[in-house]
Amino acid sequence: MNELIKKRRSVRHFKKEELSDDIVKDILEAGRWAPSPKNRQHWHFIVVRGDAKKEMLILMQKGVERTEKGEGLINVPKEWIADAYRTIHIMQDAPVTIFLVNPEGKDLRFSWDVEEKMREMSDIQAIGAVAQNMALRALEKGVGSLWIGNIFFAYEELKSWIGDGEMVLAMSFGYPQKVPDKGYRKPLKELVTYRD
Ligand SMILES: Cc1cc2nc3c(=O)[nH]c(=O)nc-3n(C[C@H](O)[C@H](O)[C@H](O)COP(=O)(O)O)c2cc1C
Repeated sequence: MNELIKKRRSVRHFKKEELSDDIVKDILEAGRWAPSPKNRQHWHFIVVRGDAKKEMLILMQKGVERTEKGEGLINVPKEWIADAYRTIHIMQDAPVTIFLVNPEGKDLRFSWDVEEKMREMSDIQAIGAVAQNMALRALEKGVGSLWIGNIFFAYEELKSWIGDGEMVLAMSFGYPQKVPDKGYRKPLKELVTYRD
């Protein structure tokens, strides 16, 4: 397990080869075994491929262009926009992108009270666990993955395309063409405070 955890890298170059239904199901299966608050399992998976992928990419492009014009949810530096365009190309190469939706989640623009915020934070933590389970299982099966936060540049477009529920994250999958070198992590001594 430790080896898998350390071996996982964000893959940004995928082969054209499709992923079989069995592999996709296997990855989803790993996701659904994530823990969740009160075991509510408040997640829905939207598996995007084929023609739906084309629709998704058009919407991503539209959203990033809108954000670039300063009409997005937030204003971001130019480099972030360039990064978002790069991400669109990666999603184009990846045969499958899975969106994770929280059926009980609230719109980003919602003004939260404390209870709602706490609930949302817990829900998002659990959906993060789903994503990591999927990434690790994929790696075990020789499949690369990329976690995609840049979907939020196309928040309105993708949200209405997805329909009910709140879009939390997306992850693209495919057989890796190129895997980045060993990753970098801050040393533990910079990250940990022990209180004995
Ligand atoms: C929440 C989240 C959102 C991310 N969004 C993107 C993205 O939109 N595009 C991208 O290329 N990488 C994205 N990444 C990947 C990170 O850049 C990557 O995990 C980080 O640089 C560490 O590299 P590694 O995953 O290879 O260890 C995202 C990662 C996380 C956890």
